[in-house]
Amino acid sequence: MLVLGLETSCDETAAAVVEDGRRVLSDVVSTQVDIHRRWGGVVPELASRNHIVQVMPVLHEALTRAGKTLDDIDLLAVTSGPGLIGALLVGLQVAKGLSLATGKPFVGANHLEGHLLAIRLLEDAPAPPFLGLVVSGGHTSLYEVRDYGNYRLVGRTRDDAAGEAYDKTARILGLPYPGGQPIDELAQKGDPEAIRFPRALPGDNFDVSFSGLKTSVLHHIQKHGVPEGQALHDLCASFQEAVADVLSKKLVAAARRLGHTQLVLCGGVAANSRLRALCKERAEERGLRMFLPPVRLCTDNGAMIAVAGYEAWRRGLRGDFRLAADPAWRME
Ligand code: KG4
Ligand code: ZN
Repeated sequence: MLVLGLETSCDETAAAVVEDGRRVLSDVVSTQVDIHRRWGGVVPELASRNHIVQVMPVLHEALTRAGKTLDDIDLLAVTSGPGLIGALLVGLQVAKGLSLATGKPFVGANHLEGHLLAIRLLEDAPAPPFLGLVVSGGHTSLYEVRDYGNYRLVGRTRDDAAGEAYDKTARILGLPYPGGQPIDELAQKGDPEAIRFPRALPGDNFDVSFSGLKTSVLHHIQKHGVPEGQALHDLCASFQEAVADVLSKKLVAAARRLGHTQLVLCGGVAANSRLRALCKERAEERGLRMFLPPVRLCTDNGAMIAVAGYEAWRRGLRGDFRLAADPAWRME
């Protein structure tokens, strides 16, 4: 079954052709970061307008690179939530339009389920049940994946998402948006123990909190000024260590308590070098298996939506022309 996945929920216009939910034939991502960077974050109206400009060329490119035409496609999968309403509507309307014009079926896919199921594109993918931590710009949520389509939320952030903490910290440091990658790169040459930032591990549960960490970076800068040179490397490494420490601890603790042996990290922040390394190290120390999608599949892409759409279709979900975008769609 050939699925064309389409993603426009935030600031990436992306499309991919995936065979049987497992084999990527093409994966095209057009990012808008240059447009939003000057505002320090995503401006929803600019995002929607740019999706309108990019969506058809990106779709066309995905089909061309796969060596396919619309005729070859069996199913259109489109992100219908969660995300920015105007941005979601662009992809959804395009999918409906293509469905109407070609007679091909379409299905709405959940963006977070896409992040979680991107792991299916690994050759050595885990079969459910597994524990999946989605860490992105908008979400930090821990799910028990009992089966495809059967998810239980077992922990989440009480305030900022991990990616948001990165992006806000980058802003305080005068680094470009989005802040994850620049901080990750600067941290490579820094001392993670230079500054002991607080680790918030609220209570005896699997929730996390990042607003205190962000505030402590701010206090540090108010006291010592915006760092440069080695001090900047050290601050980034120390901040990164705090984020990776908290997330990896919670993930491993949850696995042990809930009896899971397979762990998945996904979402844009799962591209982070230190978080990947520490999660792997701590999981393996306890005899747990850590599955990490390649970096390209961590940040938003169309392939993950094709996989989520394929699985939704197999469960019997069908899109109809009344399907509405749901900016707050909860997967569980
Ligand atoms: O999943 P994603 O592409 O979009 C959302 O669904 O939000 O995640 C984007 C987030 C941004 O906050 C970005 O700063 C973060 O992922 N990110 C990273 C890295 N690469 C991207 N955070 C930490 N380290 C990275 N290497
Ligand atoms: Zn995402």
